[in-house]
Amino acid sequence: MINAVTIAGTGSYVPEKVMTNEDLSEIVDTNDEWIVTRTGIKERRIAAEDEFTSHMGTKAATRALEQAGLEGAEVDLIIVATITPDTLTPATACYVQEALGAKNAVAFDISAACSGFLYAMKIAKNLIATGSFQNALIIGAEKLSSFVNWNDRTTCVLFGDGAGAAVLRKAQDGEGVILATDIGTDGGQTDLLNIPGGGAACPITVNNAGERLATLAMQGKEVFKHAVRRMKNSANVVIERAGLKAEDIALVIPHQANLRIIDAIADRLTVPNDRVFVNLHKYGNTSAAAIAIALDEANREGRIQRGDQFVMVAFGAGLTWAAAAIEW
Ligand code: ACO
Repeated sequence: MINAVTIAGTGSYVPEKVMTNEDLSEIVDTNDEWIVTRTGIKERRIAAEDEFTSHMGTKAATRALEQAGLEGAEVDLIIVATITPDTLTPATACYVQEALGAKNAVAFDISAACSGFLYAMKIAKNLIATGSFQNALIIGAEKLSSFVNWNDRTTCVLFGDGAGAAVLRKAQDGEGVILATDIGTDGGQTDLLNIPGGGAACPITVNNAGERLATLAMQGKEVFKHAVRRMKNSANVVIERAGLKAEDIALVIPHQANLRIIDAIADRLTVPNDRVFVNLHKYGNTSAAAIAIALDEANREGRIQRGDQFVMVAFGAGLTWAAAAIEW
């Protein structure tokens, strides 16, 4: 039997410390005008030195569980989407499990960059739909500030830290449901956006430590083109599968990487700007956390109301892309 799956609660957390464009201009040769015009970002949050991805993920998850009315011990499955895990092993989800007292949960990470939260949503939805698990906690959490080259103005201005979470469970009669999901990958473009060092292919050694290879490297212009095309296509897949028309869509929650990309997607989906959720001016690009934080803010700010149909769509390193159509 295939069960319908609902989003029973959302939560998010961003670190206290705000880093403005002005602050960045004291570190690298940049300015507020360039950053705002090219990206739409005004400030981002930076985690404390002793505040890790799992800590932020746990805070976001606690809020999502509260909203869903679920205790840690009742959670069946925890998936953390991240490219900035606390440690290469064990998975960040294991630390989150312990912090939440989610003793009965299976916990693992997935790595799909900015598309990670929607990848996690599809995996969790299908595992609940087929009856393998009763519920799931999905988390997008990143401490990108630890993997940014603070000497490279072309990338360091773009990223920030934070976490978002959602609780998925079998839908009861009359509850909103996840209508459709789509995920995709193009492994032919791994060179466009990556963290080249720190893995088995290029361990960090005394000899290469100065090259900052364990930081994000990106060919921005190329990524931009792929992002627009892939997100438009993926959004259209879920819109069609869900049987929606542009005018039915109450809100589009796109990945928060660049306002120009968001505008291009809205344009191609023929959804007016007032029905597109934007918070990247506050947080920059928080990769897997971005859609998760945006979903929680849209929920708590009342931008999505019971019965509304909305679309989330993401794009990231891999290359990866993903979309979901939801009835709230
Ligand atoms: N401040 C001032 N000048 C800058 C800065 C900066 N921070 N960064 C670059 N410049 C300069 C460049 O040196 C260049 O100068 P030049 O013309 O003298 O050579 C000029 O500005 C233009 O640079 P471009 O790279 O051509 O700028 P572009 O308009 O392409 O914008 C950006 C760059 C914002 C990165 C854009 O390409 C972009 O958003 N790309 C997509 C990123 C994305 O979506 N990533 C998503 C996934 S992220 C993930 O998965 C983790």
